[in-house]
Amino acid sequence: MDTATRIEQALTAAVARAEAPPAPPKLAAAVRHAVFSGGARVRPQLCLAVAKACGDDTPAMSDAAAAAIEMLHCASLVHDDLPCFDDADIRRGKPTVHAVYGEPLGVLVGDALIVMAFEALALAGAAEPQRLPALTVTIARAVGTPAGLVAGQAWESEPNPELIAYQRAKTGALFVAASVAGAVAAGSDPGPWRGLGERLGDAYQIADDLRDAVCTPEELGKPAGQDEALGRPNAVAEFGIDGALARLQQLLGEAVDSIPDCPGAPDLQQLVLLQAKRLTPKRLAPASVA
Ligand code: FPP
Ligand code: MG
Repeated sequence: MDTATRIEQALTAAVARAEAPPAPPKLAAAVRHAVFSGGARVRPQLCLAVAKACGDDTPAMSDAAAAAIEMLHCASLVHDDLPCFDDADIRRGKPTVHAVYGEPLGVLVGDALIVMAFEALALAGAAEPQRLPALTVTIARAVGTPAGLVAGQAWESEPNPELIAYQRAKTGALFVAASVAGAVAAGSDPGPWRGLGERLGDAYQIADDLRDAVCTPEELGKPAGQDEALGRPNAVAEFGIDGALARLQQLLGEAVDSIPDCPGAPDLQQLVLLQAKRLTPKRLAPASVA
């Protein structure tokens, strides 16, 4: 089965568990909206690509890790769009969860998805229980505090956040967790895979900042110009467009170079190059990613 199908099946199973009776109908619909609104599934793809490169001897476990990471990502976006954070009405070209279902359900969908993620891990853990603690801790740390998504978002409430620490927590941590979790779920040493997640996480955030600065809301499927409007630290403000673009290209090159020599290396290189093309704003793309 291809990677995209595995991810959608694992997410479908998790959402089906959450919307089964006696689930409140609006909550069930809002969870479905949050998970199936056209995300690119970059993090779960990275997780499964690393698992495959490590032999993927227990697919149920790598599928659960990939789905858990995507559900946590979706939870963070639903909360990020709430009026108390970015107050955004559009995400992935569609109305945000709180725009359709209201703010209380927006909060609850994020809560539900966090719990669903760890439920999925626990259910799959029966296959290789000795891998479960490391897998759970890897993913929990990437999302919580002191250095995960929650901490990253909380830096926006501090007076002078340092750009790299802020972005590594807000975005990088989940990319690192995706690559490390892929190896752990397959029973391999995650050490050689950490660098790939780090480079991709840094690259992804710089690309997001560039796109926020130069693309239109129609191109992005979400509001544009938000970093400047909300006074957030960002790579374009710190390095300029050209400087941010140069860093992005360098990080993507380093990501490709960091892939350990293994049978899955060509697939992973392909994944990085595909993301480079998807993420680099077209009008800025150098020939290598156009
Ligand atoms: C998008 O950033 C937001 C994040 C990457 C993280 C948001 C984290 C929280 C709201 C903390 C709560 C976490 C959980 C797991 C519920 P952005 O606003 O720069 O990007 P955007 O343009 O995609 O909105
Ligand atoms: Mg936002």
